[in-house]
Amino acid sequence: MERENVLLFLTTVQIAATALYTAWKLRKNKRWRSRRWWVRPIMARREEHGDFATLFQELKEDPVLFFRYTRMNVSTFYELLHLISPHITKRSARPSISAEQRLAITLRFLATGDQVLSIALAFRIGESTAHEIIKETCILAVVCLHNFLKTKNDEQPAQARQYCPPKFVDTDTGNGEVVPGEWRENREDNNLLPMGNIGAHRAAKEAYEIRDRLASYFITPTGQVPWQYDYIQGGKNQN
Ligand SMILES: *[C@@H]1O[C@H](CO)[C@@H](O)[C@H](O)[C@H]1NC(C)=O
Repeated sequence: MERENVLLFLTTVQIAATALYTAWKLRKNKRWRSRRWWVRPIMARREEHGDFATLFQELKEDPVLFFRYTRMNVSTFYELLHLISPHITKRSARPSISAEQRLAITLRFLATGDQVLSIALAFRIGESTAHEIIKETCILAVVCLHNFLKTKNDEQPAQARQYCPPKFVDTDTGNGEVVPGEWRENREDNNLLPMGNIGAHRAAKEAYEIRDRLASYFITPTGQVPWQYDYIQGGKNQN
């Protein structure tokens, strides 16, 4: 028992040391890389000549063109911005692209279906940055809109709920028992068609990373639910 504790302690120290060393190396590399960073002159003049600083601000005074540019009116734009800005405001040291600009870039992309490069050039941001902004903002906007609709939905009396009718989604009883929702029944009107086989059963690298990140969160004190270990072990082998 004593020996086991010592071994456990040594292993922990070793893991901690490796983690610290890796973190230190990453930081060092990052500093080294950022010293060699070079900003394209076009990007450096974003604040004066980029579409967000110029065209987009002027369009706010022309409701018709603003609508054609973003496919929404100014008040809807700000409402959407209000919903998603807490989630897309970056907290990094380098001056970054504001939430409003990120939303404008994304809407412009959605409205035109233009090549990302033309949007990146118009807004004077890097092409890969534009890709990242569009992807991230779209995902967040969908999540925010879902939360918004769900909140409005739940304010209605149960029979009037259309976005998510009562018993529609799976629920759990609080002790790990899952009650299947009605969406699983083969209904004509739920828009969820069976997908069938869609090819290779290989998850993308990203999916694995997200899975691992969630898994490590679920075993921390803040990430757990009280019944999870009972559920996994089916009431057996508790020690
Ligand atoms: C903006 O659009 C929303 C949704 O279509 C609408 O409810 C609102 O009245 C419009 N606001 C203005 C100022 O036109």
